[in-house]
Amino acid sequence: MCPSPRGRHDAAPAHFETSQNGGIADPETIHHAWPTVRRRVRMSSQSTPHEIHRARPSRWLIPYVVGIDLATLIALLTTLQGLPPRLWLHLLVFVPVAALTESWTVTLRREGEISLSFTIYYAAAVLFGPCFGIVTAVSGSLLADGLVRRKGVAMTAFGAGQLAISAGLAGLAFEALRSGHGFGLVSNAPAYAAAAVVYVLVNSVLATGVFALHGRPFLHVWLHALREGGAFYVAMAPLGALVVNAYQQSPWTMLYFPLLIWVVYKGFRLYDRLSSETDNALVVLANTIDKRDRYTYEHSLRVARYVARIAAKLGLPAEEQKLVVSAAQVHDLGKLSVDNRILLKEGPMTDEEREQIRTHPAAGAELAGQFSMYRAGAAIIRHHHERWDGNGYPDGLAGEGIPFGARIIAVADAYDAMTSDRPYRDALADEVAVAELIRGSGSQFDPWVVEAFLSRAEEARPAASRCAQPARSLT
Ligand SMILES: [Fe+2]
Repeated sequence: MCPSPRGRHDAAPAHFETSQNGGIADPETIHHAWPTVRRRVRMSSQSTPHEIHRARPSRWLIPYVVGIDLATLIALLTTLQGLPPRLWLHLLVFVPVAALTESWTVTLRREGEISLSFTIYYAAAVLFGPCFGIVTAVSGSLLADGLVRRKGVAMTAFGAGQLAISAGLAGLAFEALRSGHGFGLVSNAPAYAAAAVVYVLVNSVLATGVFALHGRPFLHVWLHALREGGAFYVAMAPLGALVVNAYQQSPWTMLYFPLLIWVVYKGFRLYDRLSSETDNALVVLANTIDKRDRYTYEHSLRVARYVARIAAKLGLPAEEQKLVVSAAQVHDLGKLSVDNRILLKEGPMTDEEREQIRTHPAAGAELAGQFSMYRAGAAIIRHHHERWDGNGYPDGLAGEGIPFGARIIAVADAYDAMTSDRPYRDALADEVAVAELIRGSGSQFDPWVVEAFLSRAEEARPAASRCAQPARSLT
């Protein structure tokens, strides 16, 4: 259909999806035909709910943290005065164990971390009441974070306050619902459950408050924290109830619990490691596949770099940044299912060949979805060729119905496709590629993502030029 490879950038627009969709060509076919872009289009200033990520820390952040610290100090001074002398000896047992378990933390995939010290603070508040819980939480936290981990005054004080308030209120909840004076696991099951729920809710709300005051959507962060930490608390709360009952039998039983908690901690760590190894295995797999075609391999690396910049600019949570960057690295994983003769073809594609290329997002998602820990990444891979206006593939999703990570990859993917040299055509100039992105903003691309990409132009464009150089000698 095309007379010569060198003439391909002048090919008829039949191969260029702009003619059908009114936007920029799909990155997979973009190098097979190229329009002459002569006009610059001013990007719309359409806003999206994601703008909340752009907010700077609120001026209420410091009052919030100081308020928590002051409330803790007052509670501590009040409780210390009212703490019966017989409980001081028990503090010598609880505080060291709490400090030990405080450093055993589980990192949530999306945000923050959870310490296994929850078990001890929870047991302390239930067993000896809210005052004991507060003193144990403050002492254990100061010892672990202030002296051992040296987290800094502000973080240590806030952490201690957060734990103390959570433990104190959990102790109150248990006392309110407790039946009689015993600690029976069955008769007091509602009280144990209520104390755990109160602890988790208060703790997570206080922590999420800090993220919210950094401009992050409160409900979004909070729900993710609860969802990801839910299994942890469900596992650890009964263990805390067991600590209470065993300690009643003999304080010496406390010697067993650090070991038990350590075993649970290792289990969570193993899960965490498996999760990271899943990501790494996918990247290795994708790289191996991409290396069939050196261009595709280099392209994936560059797209991942652009995506990292965009995600950082958008202020996505660290874990979401990690996810979308890893998805960018493997976004063309599904090309495994595409025949090499089509994948490496230099001439224009037939309709059937283009159809086969268009199967790669779904094929890649199916492959990545086999890893149970990479389901969110699989959704991003599946939808990286969707368009903002709903004319993309494979599912024709539109607007915010498209996973956000997929919208970010779409912009980075298109920019790199345009600015990369191929044997049969030169790379498009940066300003031309930028004009194309602007032209597709609001039709092919999420306007806010385009804006974020372009706002990093000073940093990204020289990098883009550097990235494009090695491709000159590629196949
Ligand atoms: Fe793709």
